[in-house]
Amino acid sequence: MKILNVVGARPNFMKIGPIIDAIRVRSHGGEGIEQFLVHTGQHYDRQLSALFFEQLGIPAPDVNLEVGSGSHAVQTAEIMTRFETVCLEQKPSHVLVVGDVNSTIACALVAAKLGIRVVHVEAGLRSFDRTMPEEINRILTDAIADELFTTEQSANENLRREGIPDSKVHFVGNVMIDSLLRHRRKAEESSILKDLGLTGGNHGITPYGVLTLHRAATVDDPDRFREILEAVLEVSKGLPIVFPVHPRTKSRIAAFGFHGDFRWAQLSAGTPTENARGIIAVEPLGYLDFLRLMSSARVVLTDSGGIQEETTILDIPCVTLRESTERPVTVEQGTNVLAGIRKRDILTHVQAQLERPRTARRSAPPLWDGKAAERIVDQLIKSVRE
Ligand code: UD1
Repeated sequence: MKILNVVGARPNFMKIGPIIDAIRVRSHGGEGIEQFLVHTGQHYDRQLSALFFEQLGIPAPDVNLEVGSGSHAVQTAEIMTRFETVCLEQKPSHVLVVGDVNSTIACALVAAKLGIRVVHVEAGLRSFDRTMPEEINRILTDAIADELFTTEQSANENLRREGIPDSKVHFVGNVMIDSLLRHRRKAEESSILKDLGLTGGNHGITPYGVLTLHRAATVDDPDRFREILEAVLEVSKGLPIVFPVHPRTKSRIAAFGFHGDFRWAQLSAGTPTENARGIIAVEPLGYLDFLRLMSSARVVLTDSGGIQEETTILDIPCVTLRESTERPVTVEQGTNVLAGIRKRDILTHVQAQLERPRTARRSAPPLWDGKAAERIVDQLIKSVRE
């Protein structure tokens, strides 16, 4: 068995890390699995890519396709053209893709047409909103995948409804949570709270919230972005909000003239405690700093998918700034609420989340136990033997 693992964008890295480890352990155990890592280069900034490889202990990619940014068509086509050459040279038995980014569908499509088995990790999630590019990527990748690994029960039902045979679908849990559980202790050593001026005397922590925004649907329209910003500015009068800014969002802030609504902090300079107020904008954070930041937040406001899952395990109130979620288990069993993007709704949900009593710890969603990657590799070995 030769598995060609694919990564391209930030949320892929924490998903592939545990899979690479599990393959390595099984091949040392005598299973003779070869693996090869391809980075498409969809994300190329150090803060969005190299830093994650270092912090997550992922080996350097064997090949970087260096496709960079572009329109969806250009980016997807570039990945396909360059990835086909790699497949022809490497002759893998399996191509393993994760998540729902453009690199996921591009590489899955190339592999399927070359007759290579396509493995999709985090299959079956559906927002039922086809205006999201990720939703198109998910539906198409699942339609051509040979083995589909799911994180929650809703995904199994979605795949069944789309006519994908149960024999191809394996409910294994969540590899992103494998990474979180593995790196949680290490993240405690991060100095991010101190760097942001959020630690007081006697190791006390100044209460704060966290904001992330990067989706086209949230930040590309100035009116929608403005309305969300108005809500967050209101919240930030009583609770400082730390906002690591994604490059797409940064360019929109500049284009729409919103720059003055934030206090831009230089992390290296350190910010005195008394200044921790308003919305504190910082560069995108590495994995360990962001994990530390989420872990002590009073509330997290986000349009991300993965953060809804991570806050569920960390037991931190999450307010999702979207109309839909492809991860309903985070609402049913976790700490997440869907607030939409209207100012009044956001404020109501943030208030309710801040007032929510912190009762006994909830149990994690089924199989979010740190062992999803091992289950995936065991299943791949099993299906090759069958
Ligand atoms: C991509 C994924 C999204 C994921 C997100 C995580 C798709 C369709 N979208 O969105 O699902 O949640 O990654 O971050 O695959 N840029 C940089 N440096 C980089 C990468 C991008 O400055 O290293 C800028 C470029 O101006 C680029 C823009 O960010 O045009 C958007 O990048 P792109 O990869 O197209 O999509 P994301 O918005 O990052």
